[in-house]
Amino acid sequence: MTTATETKLPRINMPLPGPKAKEVIEYDKKFISPSLFREYPLVAERGYGAIIEDPDGNTFLDFAAGIAVCSTGHCHPHVVQAIQKQAAELIHIAGTDFYHRHMPQLAERLVATMPKSHHYKVFFGNSGTEAVEGAIKLARYATRRDKLIAFYGCFHGRTLGSLSLTASKSTQRKYFGTLLGGVEHIPFPYAYRCALGHTKETCGGEIIELLEEQILKRLFAPEEVAAIIVEPIQGEGGFIPAPAFFLRELQRICNKHGIMLILDEVQSGMGRTGKMWAYDHAGITPDIVLTAKGLGSGMPISAFIAKESVMQWKPGSHGTTYGGNPVCIASAMATLDLIQGGLMANARKMGEYIFGKINDWPSRFKIVGDVRGKGLMVGVEIVRDQRTKEKAPDLRDKVIVGAFHRGLLTLESGENSIRISPPLIIDEEQADCAIRIMEESIREAEKSL
Ligand SMILES: Cc1ncc(COP(=O)(O)O)c(C=O)c1O
Repeated sequence: MTTATETKLPRINMPLPGPKAKEVIEYDKKFISPSLFREYPLVAERGYGAIIEDPDGNTFLDFAAGIAVCSTGHCHPHVVQAIQKQAAELIHIAGTDFYHRHMPQLAERLVATMPKSHHYKVFFGNSGTEAVEGAIKLARYATRRDKLIAFYGCFHGRTLGSLSLTASKSTQRKYFGTLLGGVEHIPFPYAYRCALGHTKETCGGEIIELLEEQILKRLFAPEEVAAIIVEPIQGEGGFIPAPAFFLRELQRICNKHGIMLILDEVQSGMGRTGKMWAYDHAGITPDIVLTAKGLGSGMPISAFIAKESVMQWKPGSHGTTYGGNPVCIASAMATLDLIQGGLMANARKMGEYIFGKINDWPSRFKIVGDVRGKGLMVGVEIVRDQRTKEKAPDLRDKVIVGAFHRGLLTLESGENSIRISPPLIIDEEQADCAIRIMEESIREAEKSL
């Protein structure tokens, strides 16, 4: 519900950034680390629903959702109320030392989303990278092996362990020195650029062969491999879904060799694809699942969920001060209420609605090479030439910046793709508005071809 001063659609009243936004940007420049990468000068003052308002009173339709974090939209009343209530009762206790009922309550709800064939247990942290770090440690502990296999294009975080798995952009690794040893990367199935001409359903068979016939025979003995970690839909890498058969093949290989299959659902999970976890579309049973972002609707919380048979480490092996913070848990419980109470179904419905309207973009726009994704994880790849598929990051940036100036927030992804990941609350009117803005911005970028 919107109030008199609230709107559902964007309204830009001036050239951006406006005067008050400019002040904040200058202030930020003085004090904030320059390593942060801002694609365009959005300054957020408040948020509600799918709308962000800047300090000059401009409103933006937020189809970025703080990198797929604000799953329930901005400041959903149910989430705000849960946070406020918990903040008045207990803010912190350190779940690593003491008990509080909310930790097992949220864990039970997360476990209930997992395959029924196994019992699972949960470890709470604060961020995606922390879930990845914990999962690396758990996989090593459980298997007593240390080798790890990840994929080119993947993003698993920026702390030194997770960064060793991340193979997205070299800037993210440059000058940070030696990372974890024993990590091997293999290609990710990327149907649009499949050298063998396979489809979105069939691409990747040769990667499975590479893994079995080369990596596990010539580089790593399988009995030394602790885990294979994969994003079921590459997020940072370009919103590229792995085919279902590919994930099932990874599961087969992992089962055969006692390797942990870790599904990084930090970006793709929490109902965004129309099912709770993106791996649910492939019907597999992972050993460890990672979640963060959409779990807390903006409060910092992450978790790794592992089969009980895997999570057998001894007290003191792993811990954290803030993980399982009561206020973050309250936010996550309220988020789950909303996701399971209708938003996941809405993500499926609105995803179908959006894809139904944009699937033909490659035939309508010269610079759109590919449209892909699932539910409300929508990727659009921008190319200079559809025939050669030459990547066009400059045109991609023009589309994103053009959309911003028209009041739509999106993000870049991969070298030359756009990621559209709205909150799961959006309706058809908002989807239509975003599509119209995207089309105008694509048309404008095409003029510079
Ligand atoms: C799939 C995936 N894993 C891990 C991370 C790291 O999460 P965080 O930035 O919360 O550390 C991200 C962040 O974008 C992600 O997309």
